Amino acid sequence: MITTNPFSALSEIIPAIAMQSFVIAMGVLVVLGTLIDIIHKKNVKYFFENAKKAKKSAKKILTAGEKTSVIIKTIASDIATTSELGAGKRRAAHLFGMYGTILFWIGSIVMIFCYASPISNTPSVWPIIWHVGAIMTILGGSWFWFFLRVDVYSEAQPWYRIIKADLFVLALLASSFFGLVWSFLQSLNLNDRWDDKVFLILFIISNLVLFGGVYWSKFAHMFYKPGAALQKNLAEADGSRDNMPPPADAPEKFGPGIKREAPKHY
Ligand code: HEM
Repeated sequence: MITTNPFSALSEIIPAIAMQSFVIAMGVLVVLGTLIDIIHKKNVKYFFENAKKAKKSAKKILTAGEKTSVIIKTIASDIATTSELGAGKRRAAHLFGMYGTILFWIGSIVMIFCYASPISNTPSVWPIIWHVGAIMTILGGSWFWFFLRVDVYSEAQPWYRIIKADLFVLALLASSFFGLVWSFLQSLNLNDRWDDKVFLILFIISNLVLFGGVYWSKFAHMFYKPGAALQKNLAEADGSRDNMPPPADAPEKFGPGIKREAPKHY
């Protein structure tokens, strides 16, 4: 199963053009959802106004070289390794989910656009990337869902309590899980059995929810977070610090209570 392109077998019942149109439609939904979110929340407008305001209190004008080095640091640390999450489980789970999803999406695009015909000879690397990506997303996403979510980790809510804010992580988990089960059942060659078709339908629905729900979910954080990290690093480099005061030049004294329990209440 892991070396089989599931979209190639699927092309016997669904034409490649239909699959390709579905992928393009999902991309359009992401763009539309993000744009409506930006217009509704006015977050990008606020972001640029704030950056303009902070620039006025800059202590120095950054050279092109300094700006480039801040951009490289932001990409290498804040974005590629989500350093905002610090060292530990939260960051490890996020990296698993993030890179798993990226592999799953790249694998889907390549297999659907280049190898979605019953006679295509898909290099095994692509189905492997797709299946490994799905497994990584399920591992990282479930770790987050069952153990690390603030509701569960800090507020002692049960893992099965679902709120609107969970739409993104649950749709992400569902699309990887249903995709994986569909691929497995299809590889068993059950012919006219219903099993793989049911999971194919669930895979399609979960993708519609994931990509169609951008406006209501946390999907767009993958675009906002890198922008915010870059602005924060530029503001630190030019001394404006987003109009925030510098850290106090005094020893950190939080009292003995700080040692009793790791900080985890928000
Ligand atoms: C394909 C790209 C990405 C995927 C699939 C992804 C996935 C996720 C998921 C599933 C969550 C949990 C959402 C929730 O609170 O319910 C999350 C949270 C988060 N993501 Fe991402 N993410 C991506 C990109 C990024 C990037 C590029 C950054 C930073 C530059 C980032 C920073 C964060 C942060 C700070 C959180 C909050 C984590 C927490 O509360 O523990 N993400 N992400």
